[in-house]
Amino acid sequence: MQPMRILVTGGAGFIGSHLVDRLLAQEHTVSALDNLSTGRPENLSHLCSHAAFQLVQGDILDVGLVDRLVAEADMVYHLAAAVGVAHVVRDPLGGLRTNVRGTENVLEACARYRRPVLLASSSEVYGRSRRIPFREDGERILGPTTVTRWAYATAKAVDEHLALAYASQEGLRVSIVRYFNTYGPRLDPQGYGSVIARFVGQALRGEPLTVHGDGKQTRSFTYVDDTVSGTILAATKDEGAGEIFNIGSRRETSVRELAEQILVVTGSRSPIIFLPHEQVYGARFEDPPRRRPSVRKAARLLGFRARIPMEEGLRRTLEYFQ
Ligand SMILES: NC(=O)c1ccc[n+]([C@@H]2O[C@H](COP(=O)([O-])OP(=O)(O)OC[C@H]3O[C@@H](n4cnc5c(N)ncnc54)[C@H](O)[C@@H]3O)[C@@H](O)[C@H]2O)c1
Repeated sequence: MQPMRILVTGGAGFIGSHLVDRLLAQEHTVSALDNLSTGRPENLSHLCSHAAFQLVQGDILDVGLVDRLVAEADMVYHLAAAVGVAHVVRDPLGGLRTNVRGTENVLEACARYRRPVLLASSSEVYGRSRRIPFREDGERILGPTTVTRWAYATAKAVDEHLALAYASQEGLRVSIVRYFNTYGPRLDPQGYGSVIARFVGQALRGEPLTVHGDGKQTRSFTYVDDTVSGTILAATKDEGAGEIFNIGSRRETSVRELAEQILVVTGSRSPIIFLPHEQVYGARFEDPPRRRPSVRKAARLLGFRARIPMEEGLRRTLEYFQ
């Protein structure tokens, strides 16, 4: 592929910074736009003297800045977001503003300058659907708007609708990826929002591993290198245009099993304790029991497959935390 000028919003974040690394390795020139709310400059510190990279500290709510950076780029990866349920439960208004208005700013600028854009969405959009594995064209079942948890899923779904509407009405080249519990080096060590980061941190400090709920809920944990590969394939292959793809691992792991594996990998003797969801997130909280993607579409159209086994992914993650 020809070297391009690429804008990555959320580029100082966990997934964004790995994406930046991969794009630079492919000889592209990369600008990262990030307000450093959950992203960290350390994630990019190894690039501070890289001639083909710049970090722009700023906000996707800043229309003028987004306009300028999109105009200067050949294509855009839009990952900036108020991420995760915990964040949006704590600050629903800020989360909705960033995830809806901010995304619209990015899409509008991409439409104005006709820049292809990839949108990072989430497995959260499936809500509590029980149609396992989740297919991109499958149903979405969300709870009432009085339960703040659903604001994140709703905002991401609005983003997808917006992107598809820009595609059909304005001819914008969009691709959408729905990520499933990505993990790896550079996860926030405070464990904010990521169960793997929380467990690894607790295990290394010799604290109890706190499982929310009964631990029987399952997730499809996906190593960040696989997430980045799927993201780039969706954004760059012709078959990705106008499409939505689940990007995740097919392996389903219960949270309890994950806690046990992390004790093995870290050699920790911490106990595992179970906290009711209400105690962690307040009374009106719901946690979907299972999350597993169908990755048939991504395999067929993009040639995507998650390749890093969990044991290997956890080992690399642990190395980073140590
Ligand atoms: N990590 C996962 O498992 C997962 C799962 C589903 C979806 N996603 C999506 O992937 C994307 C990246 O998530 P991540 O896990 O790397 O989280 P992250 O918090 O590390 O990355 C998000 C980045 O966006 C930045 N940001 C937030 N608000 C901003 C704003 N208003 N302006 C500019 N920058 C802003 C943050 O500072 C951060 O660097 C997000 O869109 C998220 O919703 C992630």
